[in-house]
Amino acid sequence: MSILEKNNDAIALEEKYGAHNYHPLPVVLSKGEGVYVWDTDGKKYYDFLSAYSAVNQGHCHPKIIGAMVEQAQTLTLTSRAFYNDKLGKYEEFVTKYFGFDKVLPMNTGAEAVETAIKLCRKWAYEKNGIAENEAQIIVCDGNFHGRTTTIISFSNDENARKNFGPYTAGFISIAYDDLEALENVLKTQKNIAGFLVEPIQGEAGVYVPAEGYLTKAKELCAKYNVLFIADEVQTGIARTGKLLAVHHENVQPDILILGKALSGGAYPVSAVLANDSIMNVIKPGQHGSTFGGNPIAAAVAIAALEVVTDENLAENATYLGNIFREKLDNYIQTSTIATLVRGKGLLNAVVINDTEESDTAWNICMALRDNGLLAKPTHGNIIRFAPPLVMNEEELLDCVSIIIKTLKQFEK
Ligand SMILES: Cc1ncc(COP(=O)(O)O)c(C=O)c1O
Repeated sequence: MSILEKNNDAIALEEKYGAHNYHPLPVVLSKGEGVYVWDTDGKKYYDFLSAYSAVNQGHCHPKIIGAMVEQAQTLTLTSRAFYNDKLGKYEEFVTKYFGFDKVLPMNTGAEAVETAIKLCRKWAYEKNGIAENEAQIIVCDGNFHGRTTTIISFSNDENARKNFGPYTAGFISIAYDDLEALENVLKTQKNIAGFLVEPIQGEAGVYVPAEGYLTKAKELCAKYNVLFIADEVQTGIARTGKLLAVHHENVQPDILILGKALSGGAYPVSAVLANDSIMNVIKPGQHGSTFGGNPIAAAVAIAALEVVTDENLAENATYLGNIFREKLDNYIQTSTIATLVRGKGLLNAVVINDTEESDTAWNICMALRDNGLLAKPTHGNIIRFAPPLVMNEEELLDCVSIIIKTLKQFEK
């Protein structure tokens, strides 16, 4: 079978036998290492998506894969019906790493968000005097927290919501990066239990809030005794140039939600972290998952977090991110196709000079693919650029020249 047939075959099989719940760029990948991925033809690409910021530590990092293989050959799953010899060690490691008393281990980002919502509500009823079934959680317009029924209930993305009702009640949506709107709801509405926020809105198009937003929002939450819940599934684990994006403003959330890069993209590992006064409201039987906290996940997450520290990934993201934005910004001054670059660390986006409905950004991503770099539009005319954080300066400069060369192909 020729390589072309193999490629087409892989796509055709997904088309025919898989639900059409994604719209992938037509490239079939079969290998990854560090900042690179290869297609079935052997063609090498820079990965500038990192599986939506899950592969921060680079593809197939030897330390992470080593830990996974070793654990996979020893003990994979016990369920939480019994103790295993890895979970406690991981729980101690991850809580000390992020500065919380306790962790509740789950698998996917959406599960961790669901966990945080349940935890926040239970805390509100049992510790904060809110009458049962009356708790409200404030969320932000343009949010993306996953795809479960409860989470899409408070999304304002019509595509994610339509025909999936009836929706879960108990959420109030306000404008993002709007402290007045937040205080207004906190002041006027009773029964507010928490404020769930992305420190940077990734899926919406990498919207970075004004400096001071997170600090002030946390202060307001403390003033009105509601929980500040940070969803760092995408922004966390060094992506934005700090271990957590909230650290740019020295904020410690009441509840922290992590996923994706917690495993370096090797395995589904997510977590909710909080202090005892909050986490202790959860009792046996009230929340859990067969796979949550399994020994492979525990071993993989410890290794993945050690890589972040050992290889100074946060510092590298800051350094390379500044170069990326400076070079792109410089080009954009005279560009007719790109209007803006924004972001923090290595979570960045370029806004394309066309309508949200246009397919220009998609076509640019196709041309980037042809030129050896993989990226994807987030929303319509916005392309997210988020490479693995193990990239070096030479590679980044090579990528910048590929991106600029490709954008130039589309100048009007
Ligand atoms: C901020 C945020 N929260 C939650 C999720 C959901 O994570 P998962 O796809 O692992 O369920 C995502 C995924 O992109 C995300 O960006």
